[in-house]
Amino acid sequence: MRIAVLTSGGDAPGMNAAVRAVVRQAAAAGHEVYGVLFGFEGLIRGHMAPLGPRDVGDIVHRGGTILRTARSDRFRTTEGRLQALKRLREAGIEGVVVIGGDGSMAGALALHRAGVLVCGVPATIDNDVPGSDVAIGFDTAVNTVVDAINRIRDTASSHERTFVVEVMGHWSGWIAAAAGVAGGAETVLIPERTPDLDEVCARLVEGFRKGKNHSIIIVAEGVASGAEVAERISRRTGLETRVTVLGHIQRGGSPTAADRLLAARLGAEAVLCLTAGHGAHLVGIEGGRVVHVDLEEALARPPRSPVDLADLAEVLAT
Ligand code: F6P
Repeated sequence: MRIAVLTSGGDAPGMNAAVRAVVRQAAAAGHEVYGVLFGFEGLIRGHMAPLGPRDVGDIVHRGGTILRTARSDRFRTTEGRLQALKRLREAGIEGVVVIGGDGSMAGALALHRAGVLVCGVPATIDNDVPGSDVAIGFDTAVNTVVDAINRIRDTASSHERTFVVEVMGHWSGWIAAAAGVAGGAETVLIPERTPDLDEVCARLVEGFRKGKNHSIIIVAEGVASGAEVAERISRRTGLETRVTVLGHIQRGGSPTAADRLLAARLGAEAVLCLTAGHGAHLVGIEGGRVVHVDLEEALARPPRSPVDLADLAEVLAT
């Protein structure tokens, strides 16, 4: 079988490890792989070339994606999709592994509806792909945020300040909630839970009264900007407040062992999924096990909620 692999949407640490797994699992089973550059946009332009086991050497530890990535507006159009289909047919490609976030999974489903076998591999720091408990890149991003919080804590304690740390996640609060628990934040503001700023301010003031010498608030970008939250907190409480926006630092860096392991398992499984002839599937992790889920059914599921984690962060910070 001839398989294409592409990475799409925001890059995520571990995408390279997933590409490596696809290429080497395919080679081990006697299949051919083509790498598509710049995601669906590259598919439309026919930017693809054979990718052999040696081409994916020395990338398991590298962040970003050697295949490059893009967000393609043209692929949202029927014309763009038909062009992509034509390119695949011309190259004799029978199945496509799409590595990316929820938007990329929707793109994979559209490609399948145009007549191609597809398998989706969830990879996004936002961790918001339905059908998998975890996405490639999330663990690395959370570790990056926790490392930043550790550093911020040093200076926050020294000055007895309140810090607002703005993290990514698009409309998801997974990074904020997980980093809140692992980093010991006082409060976590996530889009999945209506923030009550009066309560947040009361908790901060009470914390200092009880002897805390700093406060760390993590705000997911889907709630508000860190600057906005900091301004409102300092106006209401009079606490000396500073803001750190972590931004794209969260998307880079060498993937953690957990992300490499996840990428290896899901990338290899995607090849098995395609070669078994499944139409449109997503490979993911459920309860620690690798699973195949029908892509359309997965995308119709409600998003997994990080509210329990955010609640836990706050209980443990009392
Ligand atoms: O989806 C990953 C992500 O990093 C989101 O958390 C963030 O909202 C978005 O991408 C930023 O996108 P861009 O890099 O295109 O500005």
